[in-house]
Amino acid sequence: MCYNRESIGRFAACLKLLGTACRFAAWALASTHKTRVAIFGGASSGDPALGVAGAPPSTVKLDGCNVLITGASAGIGREFARQLAGRARSLILVARREDRLAELRDELQEQHPNLAVQIRQVDLADPAQLQELMEWFDRENINVDLLINNAGLGDSGPFATSDPIRNEQMTLVNVVALISLTRHVLPQMIAKRRGGILNLSSSAGFLPVPGSAVYAATKAYVTSFSEALRAELHGTGISVCVLCPGPVRTEFQQVAKRPDGRPEIGPKFVLVPVEQVVRDAIKGLEADKPIVIPGFAMKLAMLLARLTPMLLLRLLLRRYSSRDSTV
Ligand SMILES: NC(=O)c1ccc[n+]([C@@H]2O[C@H](COP(=O)([O-])OP(=O)(O)OC[C@H]3O[C@@H](n4cnc5c(N)ncnc54)[C@H](OP(=O)(O)O)[C@@H]3O)[C@@H](O)[C@H]2O)c1
Repeated sequence: MCYNRESIGRFAACLKLLGTACRFAAWALASTHKTRVAIFGGASSGDPALGVAGAPPSTVKLDGCNVLITGASAGIGREFARQLAGRARSLILVARREDRLAELRDELQEQHPNLAVQIRQVDLADPAQLQELMEWFDRENINVDLLINNAGLGDSGPFATSDPIRNEQMTLVNVVALISLTRHVLPQMIAKRRGGILNLSSSAGFLPVPGSAVYAATKAYVTSFSEALRAELHGTGISVCVLCPGPVRTEFQQVAKRPDGRPEIGPKFVLVPVEQVVRDAIKGLEADKPIVIPGFAMKLAMLLARLTPMLLLRLLLRRYSSRDSTV
């Protein structure tokens, strides 16, 4: 084998790049740890309060737990309430439509007489109502073991003609309420050294989605936030799982459609029934999985999407966008 000056130069450059990458990784790990110490207190090396050494495993005990579900009046959130009702001790159900929540409460309590169900009518897009909900938790000493940040809404159409109020609502419900509630219940979970956070993202969060630009961006936020939080909480006994379904037949499509549009749902082979989405999510949460993508077709599609170079993705997205665009 012969090495010329150029190849040695390239090899040296690669080593330098690798060195820089390692230094960056070390810096990132160190600052993650420092952040954890700053947030939760404790010494920087192996403080048992952080669970770094001899840490409790991050497993959520669903039997007898207290669950808070946002967006429980319909779709995936309502199904979570139904599937957890036989195992949880208490459920707190949050949404705007109180009549729907009351109906669900009556149904669940009839089937599970020992289950305590509280309902709260809250518009999560209204910061004052969100604040009032969190104050109510404190006043009532509400102890949440599992937080399911499920409430969310989408929009289907070009950004240029989108409703600015809808864009704001998506950001407030999908992102702001999710991080506020998580921040609110987390210290309690850390003190108990157990708990679970299940965040509803979407497969749309893996890719920029022309025609759902704001929605997909809010879900990318949720996925990124959940992964980072999971890393920060490693060793504390708290599980963080992000659920990324593909299309699921719920009211979502009706809510997301524009006044002049039709509800859009993907091809049949990627649809997963809401019952299966929730079953997979509960299983994933109990197994401390970082991410759950229900359905084989969506798992495969998301793997391919993640492996496709951005350059190629941009071309595909441009084609897809110019075909569907109504701008
Ligand atoms: N269906 C899908 O294809 C799909 C795919 C991937 C991810 N997801 C995600 O899954 C989650 C649940 O969606 P879904 O399919 O079950 O939709 P859905 O049937 O439309 O249910 C949405 C829930 O969110 C609540 N919600 C919406 N805006 C709210 C607000 N301002 N304040 C309080 N609650 C609010 C709704 O309750 P009220 O209207 O009574 O307030 C409802 O309970 C969302 O985060 C969505 O992004 C859905």
